Amino acid sequence: MNKTVEVLPDVSALVNRSLDLILSKLATAINERGQFTIALSGGSTPKPLYEAIASQKLPWDKIHVFWGDERYVPPDHPDSNELMTRRAWLDKVPIPAANIHAVPTLAANPAVDAAQHEKHLQEFFHVTPGQFPSLDVVLLGMGDDAHTASLFPHTAALKVCDRLITVGNKDNSQRITFTYPLINAARSVIFLVAGANKRPALAQVFAPVADDFTYPSRLIRPQGELFWLLDAAAGLELKP
Ligand code: 6PG
Repeated sequence: MNKTVEVLPDVSALVNRSLDLILSKLATAINERGQFTIALSGGSTPKPLYEAIASQKLPWDKIHVFWGDERYVPPDHPDSNELMTRRAWLDKVPIPAANIHAVPTLAANPAVDAAQHEKHLQEFFHVTPGQFPSLDVVLLGMGDDAHTASLFPHTAALKVCDRLITVGNKDNSQRITFTYPLINAARSVIFLVAGANKRPALAQVFAPVADDFTYPSRLIRPQGELFWLLDAAAGLELKP
């Protein structure tokens, strides 16, 4: 793992830096493999980044969009990460519908939808059960409780190591999420974290010793590159 921690002066600098980083990974991926695969995070922090990506002139037919996690709600529900991303970015650019790999949430059983999405990823990446494909970029956020994607402290999702996709649980609201082995198979993992409220969790995530199941972002140790992009409010006290 090659870990980089950057503390940017403010959110707009954070957005600009993450945009530059993603555009450079995109160019490399398309150059080397003819396509770019990225998994997105939900929540509030990445929205201005998605708006910035929408303003770029990019080879949209070579870009494939996935989500690292999704709330178990219909795609037109206000809590849907897909809906947030479509409004901020995807509906504004000519990206082919087949390149948008939305998480299914309509089977009224998250385990059924999780299994279906796993099958979809296996077919897209031409892998068999037990194999973990490498996305070019997995974009992550981190909650005040140090959860990431929908890998929440002391939940069953943290113990799933033999599948790509599993069911997450946040205070009994269900989610569908990448497992941490799938995240760790990525070529580049980029954490985007802003706000002073994230400091205590960051201190535990970066602590030499702490419990991984209490602070799930500690489980993110990718085979490739790991970038922590923080704004000053979040990163002020951090001793990387
Ligand atoms: C989600 C996310 C989640 C998010 C964190 C941080 O669906 O909610 O994927 O993991 O990244 O909760 O959220 P904020 O950016 O809103 O602080």
